[in-house]
Amino acid sequence: MAANLDNIKSAAAHIRQRTGDFHPTIGIILGSGLGKLGEQIKDPVVIPYRDIPGFPVSTAVGHKGNIICGILGGKKVVAMQGRFHYYEGYPMETVTIGVRVMKLLGIEYLFVSNAAGGTNADYKVGDLVIIKDHINMMPNPLIGPNMEEFGPRFPDMTCAYDLELQALAERMGIEMKVNLRKGVYFGVTGPTYETPAEVRFFHEVGADLVGMSTVPEVIVARHCGIRVFGMSVVTNFSNIFNVERNLNDGDDVVHQADIAASQMSELFRRMIEEL
Ligand code: HPA
Repeated sequence: MAANLDNIKSAAAHIRQRTGDFHPTIGIILGSGLGKLGEQIKDPVVIPYRDIPGFPVSTAVGHKGNIICGILGGKKVVAMQGRFHYYEGYPMETVTIGVRVMKLLGIEYLFVSNAAGGTNADYKVGDLVIIKDHINMMPNPLIGPNMEEFGPRFPDMTCAYDLELQALAERMGIEMKVNLRKGVYFGVTGPTYETPAEVRFFHEVGADLVGMSTVPEVIVARHCGIRVFGMSVVTNFSNIFNVERNLNDGDDVVHQADIAASQMSELFRRMIEEL
């Protein structure tokens, strides 16, 4: 089910109809096990994905499937509790439909979160990492006819992750006394986890994190001029740093994400309050 402009418009119209005169300026995508932030949104209108035309139902472990519109940090936000992954079999237009729908709803900022594997030997499970850049090894979501309504054929990606938002996160991290790291995210399709040779390669080409999401959404957001902040929760080490026990299983990822989720939620809330 590819998401053409009609799908995107009717999904946005459905959300508008359910929320009344609500114009969010901030979009949030909550990754594996990070859906908790959704519970902090005040005066929430919760719309299950199954009700939204053109939206698939997320099948990934640790993912709920709701759009939540409401107030966070005093601002109007629209949050996606759970996302769509390429490994679930959806075309890239569907993986990224939420970003374009949120754009039509009026967002200027997008906060994206994910659970990721650490390819940097200094990282620990539970670390929060500001994404400063990415390396894309997934199919590019903008392949195909350009959607001129959203942006140019050849979008610039030099500052994909907004520098001011990164600086704001660092400031809030200091206030909260949380040690934030900054790293490069390597986007892969999955669904397999990485071999030791792949992890070594990712590390050597400059990646600190590896994961199966986020990059398509960030590309689509940048295409239509949305300012992006990205954060990873390190939920497992890559296996070359962890020969004793292979932690790469779905349940562990969800558990580790759960612990860090509350800190990340508070960080997002404080950042949004400052915008
Ligand atoms: N690899 C890829 N994706 C992931 C990982 C990983 O180790 N952990 C959580 N998502």
